[in-house]
Amino acid sequence: MTRALVVYESLFGNARTIARAVADGLSGQLPATVVAAAEAPTRIGSDVALLVVGGPNHAMAMPRRATREGAVRDHPELHLATVDVGLREWLGELSLEAPGLAAAAFDTRMDHPRMLVHFDHASHTEERLLTDRGCRLVAPAEHFRVTAAEGPLQAGEEARARDWGAALAREVAPAR
Ligand SMILES: Cc1cc2nc3c(=O)[nH]c(=O)nc-3n(C[C@H](O)[C@H](O)[C@H](O)COP(=O)(O)O)c2cc1C
Repeated sequence: MTRALVVYESLFGNARTIARAVADGLSGQLPATVVAAAEAPTRIGSDVALLVVGGPNHAMAMPRRATREGAVRDHPELHLATVDVGLREWLGELSLEAPGLAAAAFDTRMDHPRMLVHFDHASHTEERLLTDRGCRLVAPAEHFRVTAAEGPLQAGEEARARDWGAALAREVAPAR
């Protein structure tokens, strides 16, 4: 059966909450599986009709090994399964059975002044990596706000993520 796949990276759990809410919104039209990048298959079969990826902004970019290590140093309560594999590394290995797979990206970020937000590039890089691997973007990237580095999400962000998921499903599974 045709389905959607939502792949995320999350250190404090906020991007995971958004990924699950997006899947919830998708699931009205398209069954959706949510999986962490470190555990996701790198070969995507033709049963997947939509790929959604997302994760946090770290140092105005997608997380890297060094920023994950820095976060673990600063937050000893974090227990990451690995600092080596996140969304960036997973996208680097991604291959598609059916090129042209519909895709969209999101990121989570602090509520910075407008000028700083302009320089946060996680979702831009996610989009570039998606298209480099042969995906076709079906919607502009979406950004979800946290109130502090550890979270929580700003009020209303989960609901917004569900709505975004529902809108993405309509893009790929129109008028079913
Ligand atoms: C090492 C590190 C660097 C960060 N740099 C940024 C940044 O440049 N811009 C920003 O908006 N948020 C930044 N943040 C806050 C993250 O965006 C926030 O922790 C993340 O969105 C929470 O998502 P998560 O719970 O899924 O990890 C940073 C957080 C960490 C740990």
